[in-house]
Amino acid sequence: MDIVPYLEKKKQAIDSMLEQIVPGEAEFPPRLHQAMRYALLARGKRLRPILALAAAEAVGGDPAAILKEACALELIHTYSLIHDDLPAMDNDAVRRGMPTTHTVFGEALAILAGDALLTEAFVILSGCLNSCSNPQPTIEIIKLIAEAAGSRGLIGGQVVDLESEGKDIDEHLLEYIHSHKTGCLITASILLGATLAGGSPEQLSRLRDYGSAVGLAFQITDDILDVTESTQTLGKTAGSDQKKKKATYPALYGIEEARRRQHALYATALAALQPFDEKADALRQIARYIIERTA
Ligand code: IPE
Ligand code: IPE
Ligand code: MG
Ligand code: MG
Ligand code: MG
Repeated sequence: MDIVPYLEKKKQAIDSMLEQIVPGEAEFPPRLHQAMRYALLARGKRLRPILALAAAEAVGGDPAAILKEACALELIHTYSLIHDDLPAMDNDAVRRGMPTTHTVFGEALAILAGDALLTEAFVILSGCLNSCSNPQPTIEIIKLIAEAAGSRGLIGGQVVDLESEGKDIDEHLLEYIHSHKTGCLITASILLGATLAGGSPEQLSRLRDYGSAVGLAFQITDDILDVTESTQTLGKTAGSDQKKKKATYPALYGIEEARRRQHALYATALAALQPFDEKADALRQIARYIIERTA
């Protein structure tokens, strides 16, 4: 299968759902809703919802049936980007090819738009409780996503990322940062899709292993691209990590070793999918895309 048209088709479905599920620009208070939409509807890869849809397919489910829940993941991811770019965090001026939310709307509104996107995601996820005959999988995924976004997940990773700036940290702490700030939400996205589509405990366990591998690999790629690509290609400021003396894979190991680790994680991800049939081919291709992408 060719993954490029697959990703493009899914992205279109996601973009059109995102457009509908957040309040319109005119809704009161308009500046808040403009800020939320500015960050959310900008050019993003939509990888987390795409992984949820592909995981639903891998266990034999209908991805269209979980599109709304998959889109809730993009609201959480976008909130994390708005806050990540704030002056108190990475202090970045460009995101998704545009000025960052705080540079356009001010810091206060950027913080609050992030808060609102995170909260709105749970409104969307819990809203699905009314429309399904069996609420149990929805309850499970709400817990799963909340944990992945919390202090034992994404936030924990972000805190240690900031605490580690300018320090020599060991490989275990570096892996903690990357697998938490980025890996947890990616793994939870895959499990969201598979859980809502009725995956078996054995399938979920294998998909968790796949998620841990591609989640870490995704952040290693992000680190490498920060060194090798331009601001123009990335749509965010290149060289930002070195400037802030961030703990990254290229900084600790060098680019070649970082690439070697990506390939090892790719092999782990494929091995986890071994018992799955061709319905998991999109997940297989996405694992490759994650280590080969250039933006
Ligand atoms: C960037 O995420 C932040 C990380 C967690 C590495 P993406 O590379 O998925 O950014 P978008 O959503 O495509 O803008
Ligand atoms: C961000 O990691 C992780 C989250 C937003 C949770 P980075 O700080 O490396 O992401 P970029 O490079 O700014 O997109
Ligand atoms: Mg950061
Ligand atoms: Mg950053
Ligand atoms: Mg980065």
